[in-house]
Amino acid sequence: MTHSLSIQPQRLADALLALGRIGSYLDEGSGLWGVSRLALTAADGEGRHHVIAKMQALGLQITTDRIGNVYARRRGREDSLAPVMMGSHIDSVPTAGRFDGCLGVLGALEIIETLDAAQHWTRRPIVVAFFTEEEGARFGTDMLGSAVATGRIPIEEAYALHDRAGLTVAEELRQLGFLGEAEEHLPPPHAYLECHIEQGPVLRRRGFDVGVVTGVQAISWHEVTIVGRSAHAGTTPMELRADASVAASRINLYLRELATSGRFGPQQRATMGAMSPTPGLVNIVPGRMVVTVDLRNPDDAQMRAAEAAVIAFYAQVATEEGVQISWRQTARTSCVPFDGGIQAAIAAAASRRGLSQLSMVSGAGHDAQEWARVTRAAMVFVPGEYDGISHNPREFSTVEQCANGVNVMLDVLLELAEES
Ligand code: GLV
Ligand code: MN
Ligand code: MN
Repeated sequence: MTHSLSIQPQRLADALLALGRIGSYLDEGSGLWGVSRLALTAADGEGRHHVIAKMQALGLQITTDRIGNVYARRRGREDSLAPVMMGSHIDSVPTAGRFDGCLGVLGALEIIETLDAAQHWTRRPIVVAFFTEEEGARFGTDMLGSAVATGRIPIEEAYALHDRAGLTVAEELRQLGFLGEAEEHLPPPHAYLECHIEQGPVLRRRGFDVGVVTGVQAISWHEVTIVGRSAHAGTTPMELRADASVAASRINLYLRELATSGRFGPQQRATMGAMSPTPGLVNIVPGRMVVTVDLRNPDDAQMRAAEAAVIAFYAQVATEEGVQISWRQTARTSCVPFDGGIQAAIAAAASRRGLSQLSMVSGAGHDAQEWARVTRAAMVFVPGEYDGISHNPREFSTVEQCANGVNVMLDVLLELAEES
């Protein structure tokens, strides 16, 4: 098998730049332009219309489902066969670069443009998709659209999720014009492919061109509510306080200790990403804190043990600090292995193109892990500069790094799309 087709790297880079202008902001700390396109905000709506216009220009048949996922279909020679799907997301965290998710979506559209230019018609249809609220940064649970589409999260549960201002997914979908009519559960595609930036330092530091993703590690998110007693900062003796912020700080330090101790394996990660004190004023002992906990581990048993330890620590801190602590699970996924055959095809395609490759587990969550529940799924990673920093405006992969990953996806797509 040869790789007679290759994408146009600069066209892909230009497409990433153009989408990256939507929702852009000047990051004060770095002086760089970042991207803020939280799911179902006006900026996300603008991004969606931008990508849909590209899909329309390519003559694709576009469908929006009831959770706002957008599917663009290119017909196949045997058009009744199940399609090969390529997808990712275009929503972002509020401090993003322009590659996270967008590379997978725009890379897939670049592949379609390449096939069109070559007048190459695959046996199976091809679907390019982007999914609603992959980040979980607005409505609190990640991979939302793909989880609904593949049956992990019931749609009514997804509709009821709300952001910090109390706006629900259902209202925001309707308001943005993306509450589609298509049934959210599709017949399973023949296979699912996603190209994504690694979002970590491994490939770049070790000098590999692409990553063959073996799977995604387990993810557990908690929202923790700590209730103490608000009091005067100047007059309340230290021993008479029930200080919710001290309790939150102790949990945060415990998270770092838990992750660095090695007790839950060498790859445990633990983060307190949000801390909201009430009333949050300089001279008041906070009576209430809402904080988040994000745990990741590539081993399910270790993850369960780490969760149990954290939950036990909540109770310990509650007793020792004289506060009440309650928590709820806002996201939970087990380790997801990707399809071995497609991993081998990715590795072989990379080798044929003279690209070095590393098999690696994904540290971040991805839509592909949801599709793995219903079909054969796999991912290609590309390296990132600056230690692969991501969820940060410095996020950057070169034209060549992006093109390598998308070309590998193209080769594997062509194989899968010819399968009977
Ligand atoms: C999604 O980007 C996640 O891994 O949090
Ligand atoms: Mn992503
Ligand atoms: Mn992300």
